Amino acid sequence: MKIASIVGARPNFVKLGPIHRSLKGSGIKHLIIHTGQHYDYEMSDIFFSEFTLPKPDVHLGVGSGSSCFHIGEIIKRLESELLEKQIDLVLVYGDTNSTLAGAICANKCNIKLGHIEAGLRSFDASMPEENNRILTDHLSDYLFAPTTNAVNNLKKERIRGKVYHTGDLSVEIIGKTKSISKKSKILEILNLKSKSYLLLTMHRAENTNSKYSFIQLLETFEALKDITIVFPIHPRTKKMFETFGLLGRLLECSNVRTLLPVGYIDFIALLQNSLKVVTDSGGIQKEAYLLKVPCITMRKNTEWIETLKGQWNVLTGVNSKKIVKAIKKPSPGFKYSKSAFGTGKTSQVITELLSNVVLN
Ligand code: UD1
Ligand code: UDP
Repeated sequence: MKIASIVGARPNFVKLGPIHRSLKGSGIKHLIIHTGQHYDYEMSDIFFSEFTLPKPDVHLGVGSGSSCFHIGEIIKRLESELLEKQIDLVLVYGDTNSTLAGAICANKCNIKLGHIEAGLRSFDASMPEENNRILTDHLSDYLFAPTTNAVNNLKKERIRGKVYHTGDLSVEIIGKTKSISKKSKILEILNLKSKSYLLLTMHRAENTNSKYSFIQLLETFEALKDITIVFPIHPRTKKMFETFGLLGRLLECSNVRTLLPVGYIDFIALLQNSLKVVTDSGGIQKEAYLLKVPCITMRKNTEWIETLKGQWNVLTGVNSKKIVKAIKKPSPGFKYSKSAFGTGKTSQVITELLSNVVLN
């Protein structure tokens, strides 16, 4: 029996880590197919090296382009690989273009499909990720849902495939990385003291496509002159700062420490030691929650609604006034439920399901 994981973007690699380890331990033959959606060292290879993942068995090398380009090109290049390698089951992760392309290709090649992180919904159809995850879920034979809310979303949609409540991989990923990150030198290198700075990331298309969002972000930086803000910049965001002619204004914000994207170990070190995190990322909202770091989410909605409980996560959109208010607010009390994301055995649960139910 052969399983192929289709991955291509940073959040896919993070989830692949524990699944690959667990499948390897079970004796199931597991192939990694990298679509090439992300390709910079710090967006791709660094995760393979930090998670001690092997070099991908296949690299499709699609590179950057529109969603149609990504999806079309991945399907075209993937088909022969799946058929020639006689794959029995394809695994896809999350909600990226690589996820949807892998799902469509598996379906068209008549290969069983499993979706890890199934059932999440932001109920915002303007997000490319929302459409990717809905389409992927409806093509899937096996849906590995991280939370009760995700299971309920799938039930409401009368999903065709089999739904399993598995917990979320981030519990074990964070559990492992938390201690490794203590050895990270990133704070020392940046001359930062623990709990003396804010961490910020922004890359979502709905934010980076609008000049208004960038102006709001800059106004936030300018309103917070006394606080250091650490900002690892996603390549999409850097490109758009340039396109909107705002890179100069960013560089004038002396409280902002701009960095290239950092690897996972350094990122978790930065997150753990931050006062608060400001982000539009999906994964970071959950990681902040698990590390008990208050999160300010520059979106109008979230698919990770569990994190909103007890105000650990506050939705502000990219609105300077709301972000500044949320930053200045005292941190929330400990009305906090870690168990919403499971007990940290998700990769084992999924592997057992694959061995006992799916592949038999
Ligand atoms: C993708 C995912 C998003 C996820 C994010 C994680 C989709 C629709 N979106 O968004 O859900 O949160 O990854 O980081 O799949 N670029 C580089 N080097 C790279 C990769 C990208 O320079 O290694 C630049 C290119 O100019 C590219 C742009 O970033 O056009 C956007 O990349 P893309 O993969 O299309 O989307 P992301 O914003 O990364
Ligand atoms: N991440 C990282 N380095 C960075 C920024 C993010 O390692 O500079 C990690 C982050 O912790 C998360 C993963 O990359 O687990 C994916 O986050 P991203 O925001 O790129 O994607 P999303 O979760 O929004 O799809």
